[in-house]
Amino acid sequence: MELQGKRIVLGVTGGIAAYKAAELLRLLAKQGADVQVAMTDGATHFVTTTTFQALSGRPVFTDQWDGRMPNAMAHIDLSRQADLILVAPASADFMARVVHGMADDLLATMVLARDCPLLIAPAMNRQMWENPATQRNVLQLLADGIKMLGPASGEQACGEVGVGRMLEPEEILEEVIAFFSPKVLAGKRVLITAGPTFEAIDPVRGITNRSSGRMGYAVARAARQAGAEVTLVSGPVGLDAPQGVERINVLSALDMHAAVMARVAATDIFIGVAAVADYRVANAAEHKLKKDTGGIPPIELIENPDILAEVAALEGAPYCVGFAAESRNLEAYAQAKRRKKNIPLIAGNLIQDGFGGDDNRLVLFDDAGVHPLPPGPKSVLSRQLIEHISAAVG
Ligand code: PMT
Repeated sequence: MELQGKRIVLGVTGGIAAYKAAELLRLLAKQGADVQVAMTDGATHFVTTTTFQALSGRPVFTDQWDGRMPNAMAHIDLSRQADLILVAPASADFMARVVHGMADDLLATMVLARDCPLLIAPAMNRQMWENPATQRNVLQLLADGIKMLGPASGEQACGEVGVGRMLEPEEILEEVIAFFSPKVLAGKRVLITAGPTFEAIDPVRGITNRSSGRMGYAVARAARQAGAEVTLVSGPVGLDAPQGVERINVLSALDMHAAVMARVAATDIFIGVAAVADYRVANAAEHKLKKDTGGIPPIELIENPDILAEVAALEGAPYCVGFAAESRNLEAYAQAKRRKKNIPLIAGNLIQDGFGGDDNRLVLFDDAGVHPLPPGPKSVLSRQLIEHISAAVG
């Protein structure tokens, strides 16, 4: 539960994306946030208060003259209790009202009276977004210290295509979690490898392994939430890139090597989570191998470059972190890899714990000793790993 104990006011304004705010509320609540919904009158034309009341387990406020607050000061009481006000979707009209410090409905008054940060996820037709008035308002909101989430580009409810779509609820959730995370890697550039590599035998067949990419993607997400600028060099996996992370897709170990080497100069921290194939096929066939010609074809293997060891050996190398997946003798094998690759930190995991699922069991090995982390979700372990790294890099 990444938002346990956080008190969030979710402001919903009038726009078709208001229906997505219901899903956003559900996701926030699932992460432990205590969510109070406030809607503009416009929003109630798209979704009813009942939906949000049922999902939040709290009465929804729409009216600044609401008699339910004993002191008749809903705008003060509700905003004072919040750690964050999140307005999603935020209409063009609402943004304009915030720019001008209007207090003409409950939500605008709460925003004006707030004592906490404000995040805004705009949603509107592309022409409304591009209008110079809206663009002026965006600049003013940013200058006033308000954080803007999106908007995204794509097909809009009106059928037009362009910038103005609200970010998806999952993306907004990621931004909110990132917002609350301590920025222990602020200003750092982190390069991460993740997933398996695929070494072609012919155009359709190849050698790969069971890495799902989950561990590496979780590390990338945690690094980004800790304020780092993150690039993820990913082997073939079926995962979406974490919000705000640059992803470079690669297939083979040679591709991964080239992608890493092209970016490593601008890197403060390199984390090799990928299960890179140690060997590739020397005699990969240009055309599909046929079963009925010439018997069983021999496969010759040739060693791949060791990306992590090469990065660690560079002059002015970044702080290097390796991973080791072993089926036994975890400490001995992981420590041996750490020494051989000459890296300060390696995270060991057993193959039966690490490959595939959402959970893992990590043991960190560095010069200070052995640091077992409590078993748990890869997301939580990744945050602990990032904290450990941040303490080392200072
Ligand atoms: O993707 P998941 O399903 O979530 O699974 C996660 C994981 C089990 C793959 C991950 O936690 C993990 O342990 N990754 C490292 C796997 C491994 O044992 O790699 P290795 O022993 O081959 O390599 C040791 C280190 O050197 C790793 O950091 C690896 O990225 C790096 N390496 C290895 C070979 C090579 N040619 N280049 C490298 O950079």
